Amino acid sequence: MTELGKRPWLVIGPGRLGCALAAALAHAGTAVRLVGRRAGDWQDFAAARGIETLVSEPQAALLGPETVCFFAVPDDALPELVRAWQQVLPAEVAAVAHGSGALGLELLAGFPAAMQLAIHPMRALPPRGTEAALQGAPLTLLASTATARAAAQQWVESVGARAIPFAESADRSRYHLACSLAANHLTGLLIRATELATAALGPEGAQAGVLALAESALDRLREHGAADALTGPLVRGDRGTLRAHLRGLNAEDAARYLSQLEELLEVAVSCGRLEPASAAALREEMRAFAREEGQA
Ligand SMILES: NC(=O)c1ccc[n+]([C@@H]2O[C@H](COP(=O)([O-])OP(=O)(O)OC[C@H]3O[C@@H](n4cnc5c(N)ncnc54)[C@H](OP(=O)(O)O)[C@@H]3O)[C@@H](O)[C@H]2O)c1
Repeated sequence: MTELGKRPWLVIGPGRLGCALAAALAHAGTAVRLVGRRAGDWQDFAAARGIETLVSEPQAALLGPETVCFFAVPDDALPELVRAWQQVLPAEVAAVAHGSGALGLELLAGFPAAMQLAIHPMRALPPRGTEAALQGAPLTLLASTATARAAAQQWVESVGARAIPFAESADRSRYHLACSLAANHLTGLLIRATELATAALGPEGAQAGVLALAESALDRLREHGAADALTGPLVRGDRGTLRAHLRGLNAEDAARYLSQLEELLEVAVSCGRLEPASAAALREEMRAFAREEGQA
């Protein structure tokens, strides 16, 4: 077991990340206590895995010099909660960490701990994640020192996840925007596509077809890159089909579709599937068509 895995963990916030993390820790044989601000079914979930639960305000008795204190609460709640726990802190703890992808280490700076860490899973976690929820997941790491980074890296691997160091000079918000686009926005787009296909295929057929199509695109992207994965009327230059997509959309949906087309045109140019001049001409044609249709 790694150094961090040998220490007792206090996981604060029994939501998606908190439950998955506590389950992975308990599975690896680490002593873990899960803390919530109110009672709930998370306590049954934890009890079934032998995880001690507490409904508690910040209190000194829960923190010792060996403790790894992990905050798994929404980003907006994080700064105030870190301050509240810091105020009751009896002495330095072994490590303090949070799971936010949007925030950095600054908000942990005043929290006396030998190691300060941000450990962010690049995975959409289930409401009550079992120990399997973090298996194989890429976990990005920000650490206050080289020793902290090495310890966190070792710990991540010990729970079956994959550590990815985060470049300290990189903009955290842009990184988190990338995560949101890849998980939340993709989900939204696929739900919208399913709705559009439902009249033709029924709800089950639409969902099965849309998800299969998305999986095939992801497979191609993973295995062969963007130029190979991009298919469809835009890279084929099928203008009639694109006009048919636009026709009949209300102004709001047409504006949304046009902006998605324009984003895709940029990608098609950057991966070499379209010449910049052809992409610009296609963009102008589609804008003009939307104006003719009274959509813009
Ligand atoms: N979900 C994911 O897939 C995922 C993936 C990677 C990283 N993360 C990160 O994990 C962190 C938590 O996200 P989540 O998805 O796990 O959220 P979540 O499922 O909504 O759970 C948040 C938990 O924090 C508690 N909480 C909220 N405000 C609090 C406060 N002021 N004081 C004490 N506890 C509070 C909530 O308790 P109540 O039920 O009492 O409100 C709940 O147990 C975020 O930083 C997020 O970016 C999440």
